[in-house]
Order: sequence, then C-alpha cells, then structure tokens
Amino acid sequence: MPRRAAFTPWAGLRSLYACNSSGPALYAGRMTDAKEDESLTLTDTLSSWMRDAFRTAYPDAPTDFEEVVVVETANPEFGDYQCNAAMGLARHLKLAPRVIADHIAAHTDLPPFMARIEVAGPGFLNLYLDDAWLAGQIETLAAGERMGAPAAGGGKTVVMDYGSPNMTKPLHIGHLRSHNIGSVLDRMHRFLGYHVIADNHLGDWGTQFGVTIMGYRNFGDAAAMKSSPLEELERVYVLSYEQTKKDSDWMDRCRQELVKLQSGDPENTEMWEMFMRLSLEELDRIYARLGVHYDEIRGESYYRDKLAGTVARLEEAGLAVQSEGATVVFLEEEKLPVCIVRKSDGGFNYATSDLATVASRVEEHHPDRIIYITDERQQLHFKQFFAICRRLGYEVGLDHVWFGLMRLPEATFSTREGNVIKLDALLDEAESRAQAIIAESSPEMPEAERKRVAAAVGIGAVKYADLSQNPQSLVTFTWDKALALDGNSGPYLQYAYARIASVRDKYSERFPDGSPETEPLRLLEPIERTLALRLIRFGDVVVRAAHQYKPNVLTDYLYDLAQTYSSFYQNVPFLKAPEGIRESRVRLCGIVAAVLKQGLDLLGIDTPARI
Ligand code: ARG
Repeated sequence: MPRRAAFTPWAGLRSLYACNSSGPALYAGRMTDAKEDESLTLTDTLSSWMRDAFRTAYPDAPTDFEEVVVVETANPEFGDYQCNAAMGLARHLKLAPRVIADHIAAHTDLPPFMARIEVAGPGFLNLYLDDAWLAGQIETLAAGERMGAPAAGGGKTVVMDYGSPNMTKPLHIGHLRSHNIGSVLDRMHRFLGYHVIADNHLGDWGTQFGVTIMGYRNFGDAAAMKSSPLEELERVYVLSYEQTKKDSDWMDRCRQELVKLQSGDPENTEMWEMFMRLSLEELDRIYARLGVHYDEIRGESYYRDKLAGTVARLEEAGLAVQSEGATVVFLEEEKLPVCIVRKSDGGFNYATSDLATVASRVEEHHPDRIIYITDERQQLHFKQFFAICRRLGYEVGLDHVWFGLMRLPEATFSTREGNVIKLDALLDEAESRAQAIIAESSPEMPEAERKRVAAAVGIGAVKYADLSQNPQSLVTFTWDKALALDGNSGPYLQYAYARIASVRDKYSERFPDGSPETEPLRLLEPIERTLALRLIRFGDVVVRAAHQYKPNVLTDYLYDLAQTYSSFYQNVPFLKAPEGIRESRVRLCGIVAAVLKQGLDLLGIDTPARI
C-alpha cells in the first residue's frame, strides 16, 4: 500500500522550496503559512514563486508584481509552464521584455522543483519541472485523497440552486442541463472543500394551481395520480386550461380556487399537498437514476408567507414604489427594465419569491456565495433580482450560471410522444442503446451485469454529451456522438478506464508476487513524462472547471489524458519491460486510472470494471 499522505497537495514542493535557504526570506516566511498553501493549485504556487523572483530581481520597481502569473502551456515546445509577465512589465521597468526575461532566467535561484528556465521569443519564460520532483509529486498525488486538488474552498459556504423544475409537468429533456451541470458544479465544490448546500427550488406555488385544482376536481383520476402524478397533473391542467378559453365562468372558478389555496383553505391545501407529495416521489425516482441529491428541497411555497413582508421591506427601504396600481422597483441606474414585485391584482412575482428566498438563505446559512443554474432565458430576471439585492446591501456573492438549450435533430427518438421528449424516455432509450452495444462487445456478460453496465454507460453518455459542451452554447444531441466508443464521449472514457484498470490485473496474473506500489516511479521515456505532466494538472483543472462554472474544462482534460495514456500504452512496453521499469509503468497506469475515475466521479459518471 502506498503511504497515505496527509492532505497537503504540494507538500513536497513546499518543503523542498522552504529548505532552499538561499531563497528569499519573504518566500520562506510565506511557506510556513500552511493554511494558505493548502488552498493553492500548482500554478498558484509557481506564480507565487515567480512573483518573488521578480520582486527580488527588481526590488525598487514601482509595482508589486501582482500581475505575474504562471500558466500551463498547450505546446510542450514552450516549456511545462510559462510566464509571460516580462511583456507587460516592460512599461513599469522601462526595459525591453527580453532584457527582463534574460535577467530573471540568469539570476533566479532554481528551487528543487525547477529544472531550468529558458527565455524564448520576445521575452517568454519557459519553465521546466524537475523530473525527480515530478515523479515524487505524482506518487504523493496518488496517495492523497484529492489527487492533488487543493482545498480551495477553505470551508466557505455556497448555496447551489439547481434543477428547480416547475411542478406540474413531467421532466422533459429541457430539464436535463440544470440538474446535470448543477450537480457537477456541486460535486466539484464539495471536492474542493466548500461547504455546499444544494437546494431544489421547486416551482410549486405558481398561479397554475387554480387551473390544476379545477382540472383535478373535474377530470382527475386518482389511480393515474398515484402511478404517474406529474403526467396526470399535466393532463388535467391542459383539459382545464382549454376549458378556460371556452368558458369565462370556468376561468373565474379557477381564480377562486387559487385564492382559496393561497389563503389556506383546508381542502385545497390538502389537495395541493397530495399533488406535491406524489410528484416529489416521482422526481426522486428520476433523481436516483441521474444521481442527483439535494440537501434541501424548498420550493417557492416555502417562502409564501414572506412575500408581503418582502415587498414591505422594499418599500421601507425606498426601493419599491407604486406605479399604475402595481408595486415596482425602477432599475434605471443599472439600465434594466422595471421589476414588478407586486402585481395590480395583489399577486406576487417570481422576483419577489427570489428576494424572499435570498433573505432566508442569508439568515439561515450565512453563505459566501449563492449560485443559480438555469437556462439562458432567465438572464434578465437574475440581473434585476441581483441588482435589487445589491441595493438592499447584501454582501453575499450572487452568480447566475446560464446555459444554452439542448436541441435534438428530428428523428432522434424511436419513442416520441407529442413534441416534448420526456427525460425518462431519453434515459430509457440511452440504456437500451447501450445494452445493444454491450451485447455486441461482451456477448458473454451475464444479463444482470449487462443491465447495470448499460445503465452506467447509457446515462453516462447522455450526461457527458451535455457536460462536454461549453455550457453557454446550444447543444445538439445525437446518439452517434453520445455513444461513440472512439471520440470525446462518456463511453470512450469509461472504456478507457476499464482497460487501464485491467493492466493491474494482468500484471498480478503474470507476477503474483510483484508489488508495483513499493517501486519508485520513474519517468524514463518522454511519453511517461508527458503523462506525468498531465496528471499533475488535475488540481488546476478541477479548480478552473469549478470556479469558471465549466464542466467541459474537466471533460476536455480527461479526454486528453485518455489519449495521452493511449500513446503511452502503444509506445512503451509494460509487462515485457525489465523488472523495476515494469513496476513503475504499472504503477503509472494505476495512477492514470485513479485520476480518470476521480474525474468521472465528479462528472457523476460511473466507472464499471468492464464494458
Ligand atoms: N422554477 C424555475 C423554472 O423552472 C427555475 C428556478 C430557478 N431558481 C430560482 N431561485 N429562481 O424556470
């Protein structure tokens, strides 16, 4: 068993660097601040070192060099990491960039993690990590709990509001992205040490309930309500809604039912509670399929008694005023349209509900940040609502993560009812298509296992097809792309994982007494070094994906890692390599498998041992 390191990602780097006694005192001093270091990624740490190199080289400069950063290179010709700061500093230092870069390269003491600094082009600093240090870091990374990812969250509290469907319709494919992207950002934040409160802010208190109650009273089917409540609610809603168009008396009665519900009438309240209870059970079943979990499920109804008070507070603060019978907040300063918080008929709006919700979340959870994940059509709502929060003096960070719609080309589905595709039907089809693929690739796999693996592959494929796109772009979903075994897809990565993990089994069959984990990791061939450089980026990648709200940063990384592994596998001998090297390579395989698994875990994608 590898030694289990306490969680300090760049422990090696820190201690090696700190014992570099010729290094600047300032830096040595900082290095003792373990709390700060645990929250740093490798690029943060390298940036900090470079910044100190500039400070030492130019102590009298009219800048504190905060803009000095080190970034990952896309092309190995430009080093393992690169610093482009000399270009921007030329102005401050009144020196040519190349002169600055040459000076830094020539006068900076190389800490043990750095093999060399090269100057290129007009003044780029190309940084090369030390091989032995790199190998040691990869060993430590594999032994730690987070694969080198830092505790960037430092215990900060984040409320995540995602999924949040409106409650009288079955989930359709349009509901996938908020649940999927939201739960991935949720997992990533937890992984990085944030305290996350995931809240499903259901739309369970809208004006549609008057129409729904009338529908259920007149056309409802108790058995259907039990077996597929969301479908039944939608059915009676549609019937009742059609009636309102033919019969104005019907519309009035719907309004009365709504008023009764909103004023706490026992019969309507009981009916609404039954709708909610049965619908939530149905949601839970889909959430189990998707692997989505919440800490709280508080729909809009939870805040219903706070709406009037919310409007009163806005009025007291001088923010809300009467206009044409309604209560509104003018947002001219922010160049936004007016926001209605109470309609002329006395009803409250979506924004009012969100304002009541934010007050409650701040009071109860004291979050540092609240993150809302919805489709692009709600951008204006969140701009208005955030503007009002700022005027009310809330200090909590507020972010709206919006995503583009998911589109399906015609004829994508064999089972298509009406023009909406239910999420359940999408997942069913994904599983049955995956079963067919597995039946072909592993005909000997027992039925029960095939079912389980098909669920993992099918649902993983759907999730990955969504996550691998920039969230803000429109996703065109096709089965061919989602299920491809040879492209940037979920099944490709699951398949790669299963193959990599099997190397260890093959090794144990051939060398039952061998123990790769006790052999040192050696990076002999260039491709082994390249692979190690990929692995060491994992922490930076997860931080970037989480903080930029872009799961596709992680999918791109995993795809690239699997491809790099593939050229490693094809180009160097494993089991036929001499003893020692063989163990090192098998060990490196194991670390690649572990990082792939961790990455797929964060994406909510299972990794079956075989496919
Ligand atoms: N229920 C809303 C909808 O389906 C989304 C709610 C998002 N969250 C929020 N706090 N506004 O459009």
